[in-house]
Amino acid sequence: MVEIAPGAVPSPNIWNTPQVYELENKAVDPDGVLAGAMRELRPWDGATVLDVGCGTGFHLPFFAASAARVIGVEPHSGLAAAARRRVAGLDHVTVRASAAQALPLPDSSVDVVHARWAYFFGPGCEPGLREIARVIRRGGTAFIIDNDATRSTFGRWFRTWLPAYDPEGVERFWARQGFSRRPLTIRWAFADRSELEAVLNIEFPAELAARFLAEVPGTEVDYAVNLWHRSY
Ligand SMILES: C[S@@+](CC[C@H](N)C(=O)[O-])C[C@H]1O[C@@H](n2cnc3c(N)ncnc32)[C@H](O)[C@@H]1O
Repeated sequence: MVEIAPGAVPSPNIWNTPQVYELENKAVDPDGVLAGAMRELRPWDGATVLDVGCGTGFHLPFFAASAARVIGVEPHSGLAAAARRRVAGLDHVTVRASAAQALPLPDSSVDVVHARWAYFFGPGCEPGLREIARVIRRGGTAFIIDNDATRSTFGRWFRTWLPAYDPEGVERFWARQGFSRRPLTIRWAFADRSELEAVLNIEFPAELAARFLAEVPGTEVDYAVNLWHRSY
């Protein structure tokens, strides 16, 4: 029986089809733009890293390669179990089934927080931000990665799907919370069009997915994101 911690934001893409979401993760940012920008802002060598909403733990081995300790937090028990399987054998990585609003960690115990397309989408995530402020050490940095709907092919698709989405309101929210914005352009690069098609179908309603697929000649999509970051 799958258990979902209170306060979880329904995430049908990864909850229902984790194997397709895995294809998406593999296609995201083949140039390492996000990793490079985060490293420049706050390296995590020898540090304690917390990945909030870690899903199946795709990013845990990446942080574990140089961090002293990595903790993944994920409210969906099935995904948390998959994340544990992924990091089996990495003794300095642990995965906890919990939500951002109730981090199962002591005060002042982590140096770097990473949350990628998870819960921290703008207004409404204040309880999770209070938890980050509690668990992060002085000198620590929080990274929040989310869509920049104002530009790029993916951004245009996102706004076609959700015309009421208010990027300026989201930007004002993060500024009020003390976060700075690093706009980045990454890309999706799939092995073949069937992967692109499968991923479009977990991210958008079927009729939009078909329309967007027809717009792309090959296997790549330009994708604007915001790396929100704040030091504590
Ligand atoms: C789109 S997935 C991204 C997963 C992962 N960050 C990645 O990049 O592979 C969003 C994840 O956020 C998790 N999530 C939803 N609500 C959450 C909450 N309140 N606190 C922490 N994580 C949450 C979901 O269960 C899901 O695993």
